[in-house]
Amino acid sequence: MTVNIRQVGPCFAGEVSGVDLTKPLSREEVAAIEAGMDQYAVLVFHDQPVTDEQQIAFSNNFGRIEPAVGSNITKPEERRLRVELADVSNLKKGNELYDRDDRRRMFNLGNRLWHSDSSFRATPAKYSLLSGRSIPSKGGDTEFADMRAAYDALDDETKAEIEDLICEHSLMFSRGLLGFAEFTPEEKAMFKPVRQRLVRTHPVSGRKSLFLASHAGAIVGWPMPEARAFLRDLTEHATQRQFVYTHKWRLHDLVMWDNRQTMHRARAFRDTKEPRDMRRTTIAGDGPTVQQEAA
Ligand code: OGA
Ligand code: MN
Repeated sequence: MTVNIRQVGPCFAGEVSGVDLTKPLSREEVAAIEAGMDQYAVLVFHDQPVTDEQQIAFSNNFGRIEPAVGSNITKPEERRLRVELADVSNLKKGNELYDRDDRRRMFNLGNRLWHSDSSFRATPAKYSLLSGRSIPSKGGDTEFADMRAAYDALDDETKAEIEDLICEHSLMFSRGLLGFAEFTPEEKAMFKPVRQRLVRTHPVSGRKSLFLASHAGAIVGWPMPEARAFLRDLTEHATQRQFVYTHKWRLHDLVMWDNRQTMHRARAFRDTKEPRDMRRTTIAGDGPTVQQEAA
C-alpha cells in the first residue's frame, strides 16, 4: 500500500488512505506522513480501530510522547486512562458520564475554546493524535484553523508589530474566559503562566504562523486590557471560515494535527446525555519558543 493524501480543507487538512495504523509502519510510510503533516498540518485517517497500545506505538514514530500530567484538575487516582493518553472524553473512571456541575466537566469545557495543545507548557506540543473510540449521535465536531494562512493574510504593518511579541499562556486564562476562576493553591502552582512567542517559524517549511490560544492572556510589556483586546482581534481574524476545516467524526477516525501551525476547538454536543470517548496522544515539542527566565 502507498500512502496517499487528498486535501479536504480550504487551504490545509488532508485525508490519508493506504495505511493501517494498527500495524507497525515502514520508514517510508512514516516519512510520507511527516511530509504530509508539514504540508497539510492536519491529517485524517478513517477506519483505524486502534487500541491504546497501537495508538501509542503509532505515535512513537513522531517523537517523545508528552505525559498527560500538569494539564488538568483530575487527580491521578481519578484517571480513566494510562498517563500516555490525555482523556478528552466526557467520562469518569468506570465510564460514567460526568454530572453537569462536576468541576472536572466544567474545566474540560475549556476545549470548546480555540487553542493549541500544551501552549501552557514551557515546551508546547508538536503533534496531537486524537482517536475517536465512541462518537455522539449529533454534534461534537472538531474545528481546525490554519495559523499559517492566517499569518499570511495579515497586513505588513501588523506583521511587523507582532514579529517579536511574547505572550503569557496559562490554563487559568482560558478557563477564566468561561467564568471558571476558582483554583486551589496546588492548581495555581501547576498552571503558572509560561511565555511563548506570538509568531513562530516552522522548522521544515520555513513558513511563519500565529501562535495563538485561548490560554494566552497577556503580552509582555503591554497593559492587560490592550493585550486581551488585541489577542481577541487576532483570534477573530485567524478563525474566519476561509481558514477553518471542520472535522465530522466517524467511529475509529484518527486525526493528527500540528499544534505549531494550527488551532482547534471541540464543538458542543449533549455531553451529559451521551458518551464521546476521545483519546489523545501528544508529541512533545523540541523546546521553548522563547528563552524562559530563570524561576
Ligand atoms: C484535544 C481537543 C477537541 C475535541 O484533543 O486536544 O482539544 O473535539 N479535542 O475533542
Ligand atoms: Mn486540544
